[in-house]
Amino acid sequence: MSAIDLKFCTVNRITLLATITLLVFAATLACLWAPINITLFPSFNSFPSPQETSFQDDLEVALKGAAMRNKTLIISILNKAYMEENGMLDLFLRSFREGDGTDFLTRHLLLVAVDEEAFQHCRRLKHPHCFRFVGNETDLSGEVVYMSVGFIDMMWKRTQFLGEVLRRGYNFIFTDMDVVWLRNPFAKLQGNGEDMLLSCDKYNGRADDESNSLNTGFYFVAANNKTVALFDEWYAARNKSRGMKEQDVLSSLKNGGIFKRLGMRVRFLDTLYFSGFCEDSRDLRQVSTVHANCCRTAKAKLADLRAVLETWKAFHGYKMSGWPKHRVCSASWKTS
Ligand SMILES: *[C@@H]1O[C@H](CO)[C@@H](O)[C@H](O)[C@H]1NC(C)=O
Ligand SMILES: *[C@@H]1O[C@H](CO)[C@@H](O)[C@H](O)[C@H]1NC(C)=O
Ligand SMILES: *[C@@H]1O[C@H](CO)[C@@H](O)[C@H](O)[C@H]1NC(C)=O
Ligand SMILES: *[C@@H]1O[C@H](CO)[C@@H](O)[C@H](O)[C@H]1NC(C)=O
Repeated sequence: MSAIDLKFCTVNRITLLATITLLVFAATLACLWAPINITLFPSFNSFPSPQETSFQDDLEVALKGAAMRNKTLIISILNKAYMEENGMLDLFLRSFREGDGTDFLTRHLLLVAVDEEAFQHCRRLKHPHCFRFVGNETDLSGEVVYMSVGFIDMMWKRTQFLGEVLRRGYNFIFTDMDVVWLRNPFAKLQGNGEDMLLSCDKYNGRADDESNSLNTGFYFVAANNKTVALFDEWYAARNKSRGMKEQDVLSSLKNGGIFKRLGMRVRFLDTLYFSGFCEDSRDLRQVSTVHANCCRTAKAKLADLRAVLETWKAFHGYKMSGWPKHRVCSASWKTS
């Protein structure tokens, strides 16, 4: 080895050392900056028993991170079908950014993924609160499947998950991703200590009339013993309700008088504020959310919801002469 080669070696070694030092430094910084400062907020009020699985501790951290001071948060479940339709989640999040006073609400929005793929997608979007829910798989293994395995699984995991959230004392708005948020809905949800506020496909004008057709695409639940009991019964009905959507199961529980039996105060939400494709709000200036209900495919929902958001963005709700027609959704029933 010549002297020059040796010198090169030394220089290389110094460069290598410097690089390593830099990398370590950068990694340390990255760790400090990552949004998972969650260890800073340990759960003080829950001492999990040894048999509790670790997902429950992660859940406490996720709920605490997303909730407002009054233990209220917004929850949406990441649906694989919507992700495959490429854009439903993006449109949903975009509506929060472009809506009136809704931007800050994304900090209180917990996106719950029931599979790894959905979880990774949530992380890629850099949403601050992504949670991977594993759930109790043994609970679901005995299921007789009439609809697709994935759909049934997702549906009941969602009920299982939301029941768990209530058990931990968190109130929430549940919103499907096929709902665009145009105005902060909380003002319209403040009522008289109701236990549950449910959106409707069609509103019959009477907020406390249980013959309203409920829609589980958007609702508010306050955490208490009654609502915990409701979700327990809802989840327990999974075996008796083969081939039924979880919304239909809640509907049938409602018709069986469960709200009265549990002593619950329930109010149905006017489509004036919580609009949908089944029944458009009669006043654009009042609308908080728009749900792509009465629409058959995810693709059609996406097209017509995008039209709603774009019209809203152009006129900000005020100078609009009316909603765009939900043409793609109407057509979705004709094709098969
Ligand atoms: C999961 O479900 C099974 C069957 O219902 C039950 O025995 C078990 O205790 C559950 N486990 C957890 C962690 O909830
Ligand atoms: C549902 O059915 C499965 C198997 O068919 C059973 O293991 C489970 O206990 C049932 N759950 C309820 C709530 O009845
Ligand atoms: C929680 O606090 C927010 C923000 O102050 C408010 O808009 C909301 O109505 C409160 N929710 C409940 C259930 O009290
Ligand atoms: C719920 O029930 C438990 C046990 O029966 C009771 O200790 C608790 O105070 C109740 N909580 C509410 C909010 O009613």
